[in-house]
Amino acid sequence: MPFLAPDVAVVGAGPVGLAIAWRCAARGLRVVVHDPTPGSGASHVAAGMLAPVAEAYFGEQELTGLLTESAGRWPEFAVELTEAAGTDIGYRTEGTLVVGLTADDLAEARRLWAYQQGLGLPVTPLRPSQLREREPALAPRVRGGALAATDHQVDPRRLVPALRLAAERAGAVLVTEPVRRLSDVTAGVTVVAAGCGVAALTGLPVRPVKGQVLRLRAPDGAPPGFRHVIRGYADGEQVYLVPRHSGEVVVGATVEERSDLDVSAGAVLRLLRAAVDLLPEIAEYDLVETSAGLRPGTPDNAPMLGPLPGHPDVLVAAGHHRHGIVLTPVTADLITDLICGGGSSPPLLAPFRPERFANLPGVVAATAVGNTFQPSTEVDSWN
Ligand code: GLY
Repeated sequence: MPFLAPDVAVVGAGPVGLAIAWRCAARGLRVVVHDPTPGSGASHVAAGMLAPVAEAYFGEQELTGLLTESAGRWPEFAVELTEAAGTDIGYRTEGTLVVGLTADDLAEARRLWAYQQGLGLPVTPLRPSQLREREPALAPRVRGGALAATDHQVDPRRLVPALRLAAERAGAVLVTEPVRRLSDVTAGVTVVAAGCGVAALTGLPVRPVKGQVLRLRAPDGAPPGFRHVIRGYADGEQVYLVPRHSGEVVVGATVEERSDLDVSAGAVLRLLRAAVDLLPEIAEYDLVETSAGLRPGTPDNAPMLGPLPGHPDVLVAAGHHRHGIVLTPVTADLITDLICGGGSSPPLLAPFRPERFANLPGVVAATAVGNTFQPSTEVDSWN
C-alpha cells in the first residue's frame, strides 16, 4: 500500500500538542503526534491554575486578553474532554483567594488588584472576616485578600492522559520516534508544539524559565483543609497553594532564568516558609515530591501562534511560558481553525504570530537547524 502522509503532524505531546491533535482528528483530519515521552515535560510539574485574573500583570494587556478568552472556553472544554476521554480531569471552580501576609505584602497585592480592576477583571477585595469565613485555615496574621472567583484549576496529571485518550479515540496516532529536524516530518501541515524544544527545531527565541514545585499530602487520606487556590504574598515571597480532592496540595513556584532541573534546599525552604506562614496547618502535611520544570518563555512572555516565518506549512504553537494549561483550549481552537480555514487567519492570532520575532538577531530558519527534539529534557508549557 502506498504511504499516505498525514494531514497534520504534531511535534510534542504536551497538553497543547495533544489538544490540537484531538481537535484536528475530531474534524476528520489524519493526525500523527510525535513525542518519545508524551506528557513528561513541564505539564507534569505544573499546578494547573487557570488564572487569567491573578496572572494579569502590568504591561501584558494583549496576553491578558488571550488568557481571559481561553479561560472562558475552559468550562465547555472540560465537559467535552471529560466526555470524550471518559475520565475526570480534576477541573474545580471554587475560585482563587489572593492574600497578603503583612501590610507591605498587602500594599503590593492591592496595587496589582487596582490594575486588574482597571482592566475590568473580576477581583473583589475582601475584609479579613470575609476572608476567614471563606477559608478558616488561613493564618491569623494574614492581613487581607481578594477573591478572583473566575480563576479555576485543573489537574495537569489527569488532563494530559485524558487529552491523549481523546486524541487517540478521535483517530490520532502517537509515534515515539524522536523528531531530529522538521524536514524529517512528512505531513500536509506540521505543528510544532514542543515547548522549549521549539527553539532547537525552529530557531525561534524560546528560553527555559525554571520553576521548582513541591507536592504535599494531607494526613490520613483526608482532603486538604482549604478549598480555594491560595495565592499569597508572604514577607516579599510569592507562593501559591493548589488543593486537590485527593489530599494533594501543590506548592509553587520559583521563577528562575536558568535551564537545569535541580531542586535546591533554599528554594524548598522559601516555598515552604511562605506556604506555612499563610496556612499553618500544612506544616503537618507530608512532603511527597519536589520537582522542577522549564517554562518556555519568549522575549515578550506571550506565546507564538501561527506560521513559522518562511514556512507556511509549519505552524508554531509554543512559548506559553506560565500559562500553558489555561491557554490550551484557545490554542487548540485557533491552530485547528488555521489549519481548516483555507488560509484565513483568526483575528485573535494577530498579536501572537511568530513573525514578530523574525528580525531578532539569532532567529534562523527551521530547515537550517538539525537538533534532536528530546522532550524529556526540553519541555512543554505549564501553568
Ligand atoms: N502559572 C504558574 C507558574 O508559572 O508558576
